[in-house]
Amino acid sequence: MSQGADILLGLQWGDEGKGKIVDVLTKNYDVVARFQGGPNAGHTLEFNNIKHVLHTIPSGIFHENAVNVIGNGVVIDPIIFCGEIDKLLKLEPHCIDRLKISRKAHLILPTHKLLDAASEASKGKNKIGSTLKGIGPTYMDKTGRNGLRIGDIELLDFIDRYNVLKKKHLDLLKGYEFPFDLQIAEKDWMVAIARIKRMNLSDTDILIQKAFHSGKKILAEGAQGTLLDVDFGTYPYVTSSTTTAAGACTGLGLAPNRINEVIGIFKAYITRVGSGPFPTELNDDLGQNLRDKGNEYGSTTGRPRRTGWLDIPALKYAVEINGVTQLMMMKADVLSGLKELKVCTEYRYLGATINHLPFSLNEKLLQPVYVEMESWEEDLTGITSASDLPKALQDYTDFIEEKIGVPVVLISVGPDREQTLWRG
Ligand code: IMP
Repeated sequence: MSQGADILLGLQWGDEGKGKIVDVLTKNYDVVARFQGGPNAGHTLEFNNIKHVLHTIPSGIFHENAVNVIGNGVVIDPIIFCGEIDKLLKLEPHCIDRLKISRKAHLILPTHKLLDAASEASKGKNKIGSTLKGIGPTYMDKTGRNGLRIGDIELLDFIDRYNVLKKKHLDLLKGYEFPFDLQIAEKDWMVAIARIKRMNLSDTDILIQKAFHSGKKILAEGAQGTLLDVDFGTYPYVTSSTTTAAGACTGLGLAPNRINEVIGIFKAYITRVGSGPFPTELNDDLGQNLRDKGNEYGSTTGRPRRTGWLDIPALKYAVEINGVTQLMMMKADVLSGLKELKVCTEYRYLGATINHLPFSLNEKLLQPVYVEMESWEEDLTGITSASDLPKALQDYTDFIEEKIGVPVVLISVGPDREQTLWRG
């Protein structure tokens, strides 16, 4: 591994299993840094029969030698963040010491969450299906240049600034018919702010630069997935941040020429939570089977995830947008025992056959074209070497590699750290 940074990110609509892989890889890195998103994310890690779900904290936190950075591109809900810290402290008493929080990261106010909920309620059937964590309104205030940042907590006039932004939000809320009570949330928020003020608030952009110059290895950890990117995702059914590789540059202060590998994580099938187009969606028993077997229920909201066949044109698009150099395929075990196995290799779009992702994925314009693959019966969860995987799965993986043109270096066959097979 050469000096500089690698990026690890999701290539679908999130929930690909990024947290598990960051945790597996962290032993190779000195710094693990989250670059965008916020508590809308739920990164799940499993080891020693315990399941951990992280929302804001980087997935390298369980390794004592790694510095974990929450970058400027992340948005932080102080209450959720402190809740995460409290859970972690029981297992990792020194976790706060290895966590650096960017002064430039934006704060999610209680009124941001209200605005998120009010906006979604007003959209009726056109709602985005937001996680209601206040993500959209917080990024709107960031780009609108109204936001409050972590570094503002250290300023003497922080409360005045808070009140100015809160008043703006309360004025906006008058435009919705949305009942609310702020009192408890605001009190808890202020308590959490006081705690965060005593943590390692840092100029993490400079920390990243120093780490680079001293030869440290940095892993930039993405949240959500490429198809939820605010520019390149299925707009407007997206999140409000740059989930693609470019987001690691703007969300950490990482120069593009300091990036080495771009590790793309995808599931052996595909899921989506929330609204929006989904060409390969399975609205039948098979889809339900994948949901149950893959435990496809949101780790942040508990919502059932929509499920479907692997979509190669969408995957290829994500690989190109991010410059992916290595692929890692997750949840291959969930496909065991299926009666049929299909992959979408191209689309019918306005009467033509295409193999790229067009502007609109509206189902009236676009239909997936599938090839049938041979399925396999074997339970994969106890397999310890990639060479012991069933031939049909090896063929499935080779097929994806050939279509995408990037090697699949790892196959995950279960949620535990140990259920991770490297391909030779
Ligand atoms: P928001 O980011 O909460 O505003 O939600 C916008 C859309 O992104 C919704 O469809 C969410 O379900 C989806 N989304 C946000 N975060 C995640 C995630 O971490 N995994 C999967 N979907 C997500």
